Amino acid sequence: MGEYILETCYLLASICYILGLKMMAGPKTARNGNLLAAGGMALAIFATIYLYQDDLNNKLGNHLWIYSGIIIGSLAGWVAAKKVQMTAMPQMVSVFNGMGGACAALISLVEFPKALEHIGHGEWPVLFMATVLCGLVIGSVSFSGSMIAFLKLNGNMGKDIRIPFYNIINTFLIFGIIGLTVCLAGGHITDHNQFTMWAWILLAASMFYGIMFVVPIGGADMPVVISLLNSFTGMAAAFGGFLYGNMAMLTGGILVGSAGTILTVVMCKAMNRSLTNVIFGAFGTGGKSVAAKTDGAQKTYKETNASDLAVLLNYSQKVIIVPGYGLAVAQAQHVVHEMEQLLNDRGVEVKYAIHPVAGRMPGHMNVLLAESNVDYDKLVEMDDINPEFSTCDVVMVLGANDVVNPAAKEDPNSPIYGMPILNVENAKTTVVNKRSMNVGYAGIDNDLFYRDKTAMLFGDAKKVLSQIVSELKNL
Ligand code: TAP
Repeated sequence: MGEYILETCYLLASICYILGLKMMAGPKTARNGNLLAAGGMALAIFATIYLYQDDLNNKLGNHLWIYSGIIIGSLAGWVAAKKVQMTAMPQMVSVFNGMGGACAALISLVEFPKALEHIGHGEWPVLFMATVLCGLVIGSVSFSGSMIAFLKLNGNMGKDIRIPFYNIINTFLIFGIIGLTVCLAGGHITDHNQFTMWAWILLAASMFYGIMFVVPIGGADMPVVISLLNSFTGMAAAFGGFLYGNMAMLTGGILVGSAGTILTVVMCKAMNRSLTNVIFGAFGTGGKSVAAKTDGAQKTYKETNASDLAVLLNYSQKVIIVPGYGLAVAQAQHVVHEMEQLLNDRGVEVKYAIHPVAGRMPGHMNVLLAESNVDYDKLVEMDDINPEFSTCDVVMVLGANDVVNPAAKEDPNSPIYGMPILNVENAKTTVVNKRSMNVGYAGIDNDLFYRDKTAMLFGDAKKVLSQIVSELKNL
């Protein structure tokens, strides 16, 4: 009877994951989707603690260890999630992901002695062993890779480290790891001690591969890599679920694995880059800035100030705000919402144009603006907002750069050529707020800044927007 209740709980948990994931696709339902998926996970955990029985009808008895783990993990997760800054979110995701990978590897370490019991007795359990070893390899790669990603994003490690011949070393490593896994899983090493030694070597080689895989990848490409490592962790967890015949773990692992893979593909597409290019090639210019195409002409730009812009905005009919990474750095989400409300009160239509890779992680801008209670209906995706730029009076580009760079459409030699961008240059007036003429993430100059209809508004986004708000209040 208990077994049926347990299976039903796993089924309900899996349904919660799937529905939760679906709800996470929209900003309005994302919060509840997250809670639903977490509820499903809690159900699966407690059902396992109280209902699981092994072949000899033994229940899980080590409650002190289990609850200590749950309490320590929940507290650490809660504090980290509460304290994290929006711009430090990729680091946190990377640590959490690494922990998932480590768990999957630990499950395999605990399980492989069981397979060793078969050495010398009857048929070798190829499938069981292959599952254990795949969990070990993928979990270890994900753990060490995520830790390196964390160190790079957190500034504890150089961002653009080039290891000589790393492609050759990595190729040897990957083939060695695959070969050893096949050899061990296939039962070609029958001595107990030899097998254990080689399994530990496999673990060490996988950890080393995780490090070698992530170290050479450019610091700013880390969100793509984290998403890829996330899918690895999902796969490793799915192997664990398969091993224990635990349907909730299997479904959860498959969902994480496939969601991570889809996200990786979507991010690469939105940046117009292939995954191989992310992994094997440095993006942009290696930190050097590249000038926009000028045809030899001296480039000049116009400047504006907060009070002139406030007047312009006040008399506009339609304003589109383009948020970017700089807005997140400046923590200007609340003041931009205040400005939007002031303009709304004066009958100005205001919308936000959301580029899929604006910021430094998927959905960065949506989450940032949701934090300040911006109405979800005002957030318009790139494809829907692009035709509207020509009908608007003012576009305010706030701390965004690459996602509004016309070189992506016009300059075939540009590193971002082909990346879909927001067509802000079609508006009557485009105002770009940033602190200097410095380049953005891709390290390239932006011709938009020098165009006739563009005016630069220099300064920290929060400071400048606060000035505009007070000017608007005085009008
Ligand atoms: P960026 O191109 O990086 O431009 C951000 C701009 O913000 C910078 O030029 C910077 O100029 C300005 N800025 C920085 N701090 C500021 C502050 N306090 N106040 C005002 N401005 C400030 O950002 P974007 O347009 O959002 O583009 C995102 C880039 O990241 C894309 O190239 C994308 O491919 C890449 N990327 C995104 C993701 C995801 S999923 N979102 C993942 C990987 C890579 P100043 O220094 O002059 O102020």
